Amino acid sequence: MAELFDTLTLPNGAVLPNRIGKGAMEENMCDAGQVPGARLVKLYKAWAEGGTGMILTGNVMVAPNALTGPGGVVLQKGTLDNPDTAARFGRWAEAGKSGGGHLVMQISHPGRQVFAAQGQRPVSASATKVNIAGFEKLFDTAHALTDTEIKEIIARFAETSRLAEQAGFDGVQVHGAHGYLVSQFLSPLTNLRDDDWGGSLENRARLLLEIVRAIRAVVKPSFSVMVKLNSADFQRGGFELDDAKQVVAWLNVEAVDMVEISGGSYESPAMQGRTREKNPSRTLQREMYFIEFAKEIAEVAKMPLMVTGGVTKLATANMAMATGSVDMVGIARALAYQPDLPNQWKMGAVPEIVWPTITWKNKGFAALAVMSMTKAQFKRMANGRAPSLKLNPVIVLIKDRMDLSKITLRYKIWFAAQGYELKK
Ligand SMILES: Cc1cc2nc3c(=O)[nH]c(=O)nc-3n(C[C@H](O)[C@H](O)[C@H](O)COP(=O)(O)O)c2cc1C
Repeated sequence: MAELFDTLTLPNGAVLPNRIGKGAMEENMCDAGQVPGARLVKLYKAWAEGGTGMILTGNVMVAPNALTGPGGVVLQKGTLDNPDTAARFGRWAEAGKSGGGHLVMQISHPGRQVFAAQGQRPVSASATKVNIAGFEKLFDTAHALTDTEIKEIIARFAETSRLAEQAGFDGVQVHGAHGYLVSQFLSPLTNLRDDDWGGSLENRARLLLEIVRAIRAVVKPSFSVMVKLNSADFQRGGFELDDAKQVVAWLNVEAVDMVEISGGSYESPAMQGRTREKNPSRTLQREMYFIEFAKEIAEVAKMPLMVTGGVTKLATANMAMATGSVDMVGIARALAYQPDLPNQWKMGAVPEIVWPTITWKNKGFAALAVMSMTKAQFKRMANGRAPSLKLNPVIVLIKDRMDLSKITLRYKIWFAAQGYELKK
């Protein structure tokens, strides 16, 4: 049975120094022009030096008109033609690899999960809208993509991957989870199409499979291609565990180097360990909440599996490895609070990581506060400071909202300069 600090050889031959993977966390910290800068370099250096075997970046956007946040990095056709920009991506890659870990860029299209305040026109499988009680005004109804538009988005994922390889990243991970565009196609709740891209699971999974094939066609075999997938949406009538197993079986023949198991969406944030259901499944009430799902998916998966969600303790990470179903333990928030957690564990230290729990009645605000509190740690690290457990969630949330409105304005100016029409 493999142990946490054993190396891991991926199907493409890449050797990862250990089995701890940093889960993708959107930093929302780009410089003007949606490009990486010195702050991201500093942040990734901290993670690289912390001894993580694989580092996934926060989601990098494949399209300038579809961002999960106004501070998102965009990598698209032509981005690296500018030598200064190419050097910026190069420095980011160098920093992320400086500790000897495998550096993978998560690439994403949010589909309908974009905030109306950003002025974009959301797109999705069908004309649906994110529906969170009390937050109805935050999102707009999406335009249902045409066949031609879907093919353009597939080509964008391939081009972003080619450029990530050119910039020095070791691989890409297609974000197919958390209710973003690929996940919107996979879920029968958001995909109401009756053409080749909707209806049966085979059709709903077509976008993901076509994206993976398009990427593989333009990158070297040694470049890692990974997928983050929901084990389930945690919404009645949504994408279920059996669907996830079938999708993984289809991915088995597509030269995928790793699948990361997660779950949930903006409407049902299971990735944070909770859902909006009245009686969430038992697995969500404890550490490493997707492990039971992962065990079942491991029965069909031929590629290595990473499972992310809820790990803060060495004992939990070891427990996951001991199941024999998990090849890599994904850790996101704990690495925001303790970037050198892998090195600490390796040296025999077992730091207790207890971040402030936010038990506000309004689940939407609570989920936003969790994100803001974590991002506040990124900001500290990017400024050369250590993370702090003493931040006040209300103050952090307010400050984050203020920062967001500033960078939203900057983004809108850039976005309009790209020739896009802003939504009033
Ligand atoms: C601030 C923040 C940003 C996140 N951004 C992303 C992202 O860009 N892509 C992604 O797949 N997941 C994202 N996640 C989810 C994490 O990757 C992970 O699935 C989730 O936090 C559960 O893992 P954890 O319990 O170890 O934090 C984000 C989480 C947080 C807290």
